[in-house]
Amino acid sequence: MTPYPAGLNRTWLPVCLSRQLKAKPLARQIAGVPIVLFRAGHGAVAALEDRCPHRNYPLSDGKVIQGALRCPYHGWRFDGAGVCVEFPGAGEGVAINKLGARRFEAVERHGAVFVRLERADASPELVLPPLIGDPDHDHFWWTQRPWRGRALDALENILDPFHTNFIHDGLIRLSARRQPVRQTVTLRPHDFEVAYDQDQPDQGWMSRLLEGERARSVGRYLPPVAFQGRWEKKERLTLCATAFFVPETPDRFRAFGCWTTPKGRAPAWLKRQAILAFVRAVAEQDRRALDKQHATMAAFGGPRFKSGPTDRLAAPLARLYQGEALEPAVDGPHIIWL
Ligand code: FES
Ligand SMILES: [Fe+2]
Repeated sequence: MTPYPAGLNRTWLPVCLSRQLKAKPLARQIAGVPIVLFRAGHGAVAALEDRCPHRNYPLSDGKVIQGALRCPYHGWRFDGAGVCVEFPGAGEGVAINKLGARRFEAVERHGAVFVRLERADASPELVLPPLIGDPDHDHFWWTQRPWRGRALDALENILDPFHTNFIHDGLIRLSARRQPVRQTVTLRPHDFEVAYDQDQPDQGWMSRLLEGERARSVGRYLPPVAFQGRWEKKERLTLCATAFFVPETPDRFRAFGCWTTPKGRAPAWLKRQAILAFVRAVAEQDRRALDKQHATMAAFGGPRFKSGPTDRLAAPLARLYQGEALEPAVDGPHIIWL
């Protein structure tokens, strides 16, 4: 088994936000592959292997000149397709040959840049999880420096409600005031979702300020590395969060979040400030938890997990992550206390 989820190389993955990619090239990594991103002709995004094919200097140290990335070592310049368009010092009339840098498909969509490492035959164009970019909603992206840990553990964390009473005590839920919630897991061959129906909203500050009344929330795992959570009032979405955990190495990943709310009375900038204030706090709590978990696993030579009665999602998550299909089924409702 590879340390990365099945199908990762054939998946479109967010690598940076649009606002992060300016005139300077940006170094990123996906599944151990160093990548350089830059804006080629007319601002179109381009992604090349971050290794000059000449003498293997990092291209991300270079500069973009007239839409082509110049390697700082001997000055070869590569356009967005990876073709070398200049060999400084070669003089006039030199035949331009096919010396090029390896290029990856890159697309900019709805405020983020997406890359995929491999193209499977007849594989689909970029399809994003539902609601991202929907014109009837406001959207805010969030990302941060890479976190230590496995993307698998981050996915389990975001799907798991039981840590919220502890790690996010007071912000999302209150450990001292639990309430009964009906949890229903729906397994499908290539994804699963888990619904939480409750009569009262969560008691933490974040839930009370951002959501108002709530009837239901649904978390969905979208293999290999995405999650989408929806919080709904009766018949109406109040908030949707889509997260991507992009593995840079087996022990490090970069998180991207897109927050979506219906357009309404509150101005987008105000909602953005309110959401991001809580996201920063919650994300920092999860970052620290995942960091400690990873350090402990490393000290003991790897993970050795025992699952308890509340870990209903661990097995389907692991199976889909490894590329296996699930047997369709509905599990629940189970009464849990959150
Ligand atoms: S190493 Fe890049 S131009 Fe020589
Ligand atoms: Fe969390």
